[in-house]
Amino acid sequence: MATETTIALPVLGEPTQAAIIGPENGRTVYVETYGCQMNVSDSEIVMGVLHANGYRPVDSADDADVILLNTCAIRDNAEKKIHDRLDALKWQKRHNRDLVVGVLGCMAERLRTSLLEKKLVDIVVGPDEYRKVPELVETALSGSKGIAVKLSRVETYDDIQPLRTEGISAWMSIMRGCDKFCTFCVVPFTRGRERSRALQSVVDEAKQLWDAGFREVTLLGQNVNSYRDDVSGYDFADLLAATARAVPQMRIRYTTSHPQDMSDKLIDTMAEHDNICKYIHLPIQSGSNRVLQLMNRTYTVEHYMQRMERIRAAMPLVAMSTDIIAGFCTETEDDHQRTLDVMRAVRYDGAYMFAYSPRENTKAWKMGDDVPDEVKSRRLQEIVDLQQTIAAEINATEVGRIHDVLVEGPSKRNASEWRGRSDTNKTVIFPHDETADYIVGDTIRTRITRSTSATLFGERVTT
Ligand code: 5AD
Ligand code: SF4
Repeated sequence: MATETTIALPVLGEPTQAAIIGPENGRTVYVETYGCQMNVSDSEIVMGVLHANGYRPVDSADDADVILLNTCAIRDNAEKKIHDRLDALKWQKRHNRDLVVGVLGCMAERLRTSLLEKKLVDIVVGPDEYRKVPELVETALSGSKGIAVKLSRVETYDDIQPLRTEGISAWMSIMRGCDKFCTFCVVPFTRGRERSRALQSVVDEAKQLWDAGFREVTLLGQNVNSYRDDVSGYDFADLLAATARAVPQMRIRYTTSHPQDMSDKLIDTMAEHDNICKYIHLPIQSGSNRVLQLMNRTYTVEHYMQRMERIRAAMPLVAMSTDIIAGFCTETEDDHQRTLDVMRAVRYDGAYMFAYSPRENTKAWKMGDDVPDEVKSRRLQEIVDLQQTIAAEINATEVGRIHDVLVEGPSKRNASEWRGRSDTNKTVIFPHDETADYIVGDTIRTRITRSTSATLFGERVTT
């Protein structure tokens, strides 16, 4: 079935950053994160705010005085998951009447007061109101429900120190909101208008991350190539170059970019800096110009393919991934075949593939949802199958190649193997024993010995 980006990613563990500013207040908090990386980063901001107010993070909902669900509204099934989770939490609240339950994020912004009608939910906080979380929790503890869902034109949480969990890879949001208004998408409504952080604050945070032991940073935004430092006028390519120069040993990634704004300057900046990873997530959504127009994507397939050519001319070994929606309103069999054609032409290393899910208040909502579910599912399955075949073929060509791998730690399946990631964002598994002279966060050279559609397997080479 569909590859689903929705992840349940609890914010766990002891902080690696941010000292407690106030004294501990004896209360514990657990944040459960759903949806995109932007939400993972936002949860770290929320934890930063709460930590500064004396709350202690715990790694299990069972041990928490405050449980916050940071939610996603992008598709109906993402919201269903949250409703199910809230149902499950009813039991916990029955056993602990003082428990505070909060809904944060895009679903909070979309559903607002209707969420407060649920007896269980104490606070509802939208993506631009996270500074108010401590105050709202206090109010909830004294028995009153609270809501804060105003969107802001300026909030970037620039001055908040996110509470990151241990690891070597950090997320850093550099801009918020989206002004693209793709007709299928709720994000412009749930996250509001685009606004960017100052270039210097991003560069400073990247340096702090390096000093704190992080070895990779992903610059995040719904649409990073709309980044603009309003004071200096610097654009995203400038930001990327400045960050690459400031932390020359750090791996730098970014997501997500829009094909319309994939400028030559950005491509050349990526090519120029060794520490900017050669991996681009460039959502196409559909291979039909007619559908792209209905989606208000503002580019054609021809423009997209021309950008691809430019990217590959500058970076021949770049890895590419994409997002694809199956069964958008009025999509015909011919439109669907065009999507498969583009996939065959580009040959993506990876793809996130979804069945179209109509979202209230978007333009596409009014266009109807006329592709029957079984047709959507069948088309989606064809897309998924094709992608798997292509990824397996691409990965087979990796055998024999050398990759620098950033070591992430033990593999999940086998204690005698460790995992890491290539510059091109592919997971590489390699043998590990007690004689190994590298640690998590080191970069080692590996030769790829075998592959599947999802994973590369390699061995260390020291020459
Ligand atoms: N239905 C299905 N997929 C969607 N996406 C965004 N909105 C919808 C929707 N209503 C997908 C797009 C986007 C990714 C983050 O989620 O492919 O790029
Ligand atoms: Fe949604 Fe389009 Fe903005 Fe991406 S660019 S967040 S798909 S409106």
